[in-house]
Amino acid sequence: MILVTGGAGFIGSNFILDWIASERTPVVNLDKLTYAGNLENLAALQGDPRHVFVHGDICDGALVGRLLREHKPRAIVHFAAESHVDRSIHGPADFIETNINGTFRLLEEARAYWQELPQAEKAAFRFLHVSTDEVYGSLGPDDPPFSETTPYAPNSPYSASKAASDHLVRAYHHTYGLPTLTTNCSNNYGAYQFPEKLIPLIILNALNGKPLPIYGDGLNIRDWLHVGDHCTAIRAVLAKGRPGETYNIGGWNEKTNLDVVHTVCNILDELQPDSLLTPHASLLTFVKDRPGHDRRYAIDARKIERELGWRPAETFETGMRKTVRWYLEHAGWIQNVTSGAYREWVGRNYGER
Ligand code: NAD
Ligand code: DAU
Repeated sequence: MILVTGGAGFIGSNFILDWIASERTPVVNLDKLTYAGNLENLAALQGDPRHVFVHGDICDGALVGRLLREHKPRAIVHFAAESHVDRSIHGPADFIETNINGTFRLLEEARAYWQELPQAEKAAFRFLHVSTDEVYGSLGPDDPPFSETTPYAPNSPYSASKAASDHLVRAYHHTYGLPTLTTNCSNNYGAYQFPEKLIPLIILNALNGKPLPIYGDGLNIRDWLHVGDHCTAIRAVLAKGRPGETYNIGGWNEKTNLDVVHTVCNILDELQPDSLLTPHASLLTFVKDRPGHDRRYAIDARKIERELGWRPAETFETGMRKTVRWYLEHAGWIQNVTSGAYREWVGRNYGER
């Protein structure tokens, strides 16, 4: 049994599906079901006793403590977070509450539970904290990619809150000996990603003939990783990572946002040659930049490769093709997530650009 937080979100749900398919052991999934949480992502597990869903908040220490004592997990895999940079600019409070206070609560309850475990279980227990490359700040064009020793320099309320949570996790290892692992991953894409993030937003807008909004000059660089590869990396770190260590995870896929958007458009042109919207790239629209927009992220993923033998299986081309196809084949899922609340967000974020 493992306890996953935020397992109804994009990466968490992919992780649970992958975990149950490969490890075959049960998961307790604690999720608050914010706008980003969607149980439909886990519909394939309906009726499967290996997935136990608990609707609740990681900030609720009493609930977390009860779940730990009841289910006795051998590990906690902590995904739950507010995760969207633009939302953190519009309203940072939820980011402070969940990402910092929530992680603190979870650590406190994990420590109390872990301290009471019998010796062998205590030694085997792991707290895996899923974090981001954004904590390292922004790279110049010729800077080496982020390594595990790059100093922290977060620039958005989102990345600052994740940086704070990373520091708390580190402190719980050094101070109390809690066997923690931290992963700092680059931008993910793939199935079940909520369409406020670049790639699904562009796919959906392109399919609907809406403008494809490019912030600033479109030359900001991100290092893209297919979500399936992120899940295998987390499993590798959980199985073989050294307690107290951090592992950077990335795809060796540095792309400008313009590259990414053109890739989506080209795949759609190829898959839908008769569409009246082909060529989809004619929908590209430059809009006002994101404040404090980090220019470049890139991950040096040699440590996880060297120590744990992990490398991504997908290239950007294979992963993007799978992803565009997935959105084309899941019109019902799209219909359900692009509800009134989603439309309200799009109006708020893009109305003023
Ligand atoms: P997401 O926004 O899609 O999902 C977050 C999930 O957490 C949702 O299901 C939500 O309901 C849940 N949640 C939010 N607040 C909660 C709370 N207080 N208690 C319980 N559940 C709560 O996020 P994601 O993209 O799947 O990211 C998951 C994790 O991975 C985050 O910690 C994020 O910082 C990290 N990460 C994301 C990426 C990326 O590209 N998406 C890259 C690197 C790291
Ligand atoms: O690097 C890892 C991070 O990647 C994760 O920690 C975050 O949770 C995740 O949201 C992601 O953050 P980004 O800010 O990089 O992702 P986003 O999809 O919002 O934006 C990707 C790039 O595309 C960024 O340079 C901003 C740009 N962009 C985004 C949107 C939504 C646009 O040009 N237009 C858009 O409409």
